Amino acid sequence: LASTDVDLGPIAEGQSITIKWRGKPVFIRHRTPKEIEDGKAVPMADLIDQSARNPNIADAAAEATDQNRAAVGKEQWLVMIGTCTHLGCVPLGQSGDYNGWFCPCHGSHYDTAGRIRKGPAPENLHIPPFAFTNDTTVRIG
Ligand code: FES
Repeated sequence: LASTDVDLGPIAEGQSITIKWRGKPVFIRHRTPKEIEDGKAVPMADLIDQSARNPNIADAAAEATDQNRAAVGKEQWLVMIGTCTHLGCVPLGQSGDYNGWFCPCHGSHYDTAGRIRKGPAPENLHIPPFAFTNDTTVRIG
């Protein structure tokens, strides 16, 4: 399937689901206010990869701010391809030194906006093309 519709209604704040899209895991996280706050508090200079890696933003050079990583106008939703940018393992959620994702294969730590902060992974977790088709449904792809 080229695109997949996901009902976000059942995903409570602080919860995540993993769906499959084009054979890849996609993480959908309903972030807590604290996670959003933590993501926003990080200075750009602290980021290993300063690119938003978000194809949903027209500006391909957009910086990896928390806002540019989250869904447009819905900062509580983070939608990301769930493969580590090092060698493709699937990172674990709500873990690691930054309380985001941790890849146990070689120890990459991602923050609450899915940005690489420590370890061998070179890039932030990638974001797939997606759009909200209504308030609680997201279409991936
Ligand atoms: Fe994730 Fe190597 S594959 S750290």
